[in-house]
Amino acid sequence: MGLATAKTLLSRGAMVALCDLNQDSLEQVVDELDADCRKRSFARRVDLNDRAALKAFLEDSKAHFGKLDGIANFAGTAGRHLGTEAVWETSDDEFDFIMKVNVTGMFYVLSEALKPGFMSLGGSIVQIGSIFSMQGFNKGAVYATSKHAALGMVRSAAKEAGGRVRVNCVLPGAVDTPMHRANLARVPDFPAISTPIPRAGEAQEVANVTVFLLSDESSFVTGAAWSVDGGANA
Ligand SMILES: NC(=O)c1ccc[n+]([C@@H]2O[C@H](COP(=O)([O-])OP(=O)(O)OC[C@H]3O[C@@H](n4cnc5c(N)ncnc54)[C@H](O)[C@@H]3O)[C@@H](O)[C@H]2O)c1
Repeated sequence: MGLATAKTLLSRGAMVALCDLNQDSLEQVVDELDADCRKRSFARRVDLNDRAALKAFLEDSKAHFGKLDGIANFAGTAGRHLGTEAVWETSDDEFDFIMKVNVTGMFYVLSEALKPGFMSLGGSIVQIGSIFSMQGFNKGAVYATSKHAALGMVRSAAKEAGGRVRVNCVLPGAVDTPMHRANLARVPDFPAISTPIPRAGEAQEVANVTVFLLSDESSFVTGAAWSVDGGANA
């Protein structure tokens, strides 16, 4: 979903800095960009759990482009056992792993980016949540906890940042991505989400809402939870 968002932003003329933990997929993304998009972008491997590396990436992005108007944070993990372990079966390691990526990583992004004066006035941050920011996940308690945390931090940060920078959360349902495919492959009876629109979403459908929330077209929207889930939370 992060990649679809970056490509959509580039197709609309934006300058985009990309980061991910996975160097190989970053290189593949850059290879696929045309010359014009490559001129308006740069990419770097960053582990969101390394605060110093993240801070340097944000500062270098701002220095490279002269300003930082928006951030979309899609980094996340489903953990290693989503859909198979009840809360009483979940190890401390699994809890720590999910919370570290999904919550600590998000905290680092918001706490670095929202320092007064860092982002452009009227800027916008979009944080990934999930349908499980609003409901429990049978055999996914830690994942759901981390996604509830995303919404709690977004809502709080939006109050703190006021009109200076808008902060919103997108809440996708099942979306056809590498993460979703890996979950289905690992757990044959992975719990299906019942939706009025009876299919999985496309990454592009989440990207479209994210780009709207990043843009001035959503200038009066902050602290919001935007479901992109085919109606699953209706
Ligand atoms: N696919 C779905 O059905 C779905 C539904 C709701 C929410 N989400 C959430 O959407 C987000 C994006 O997932 P996706 O489905 O596009 O899967 P994805 O696996 O394509 O993307 C997740 C990306 O996060 C990166 N990442 C993981 N840990 C990182 C770290 N420490 N530092 C930097 N990057 C890191 C991974 O390398 C990967 O590229 C996740 O937070 C996921 O929980 C996914």
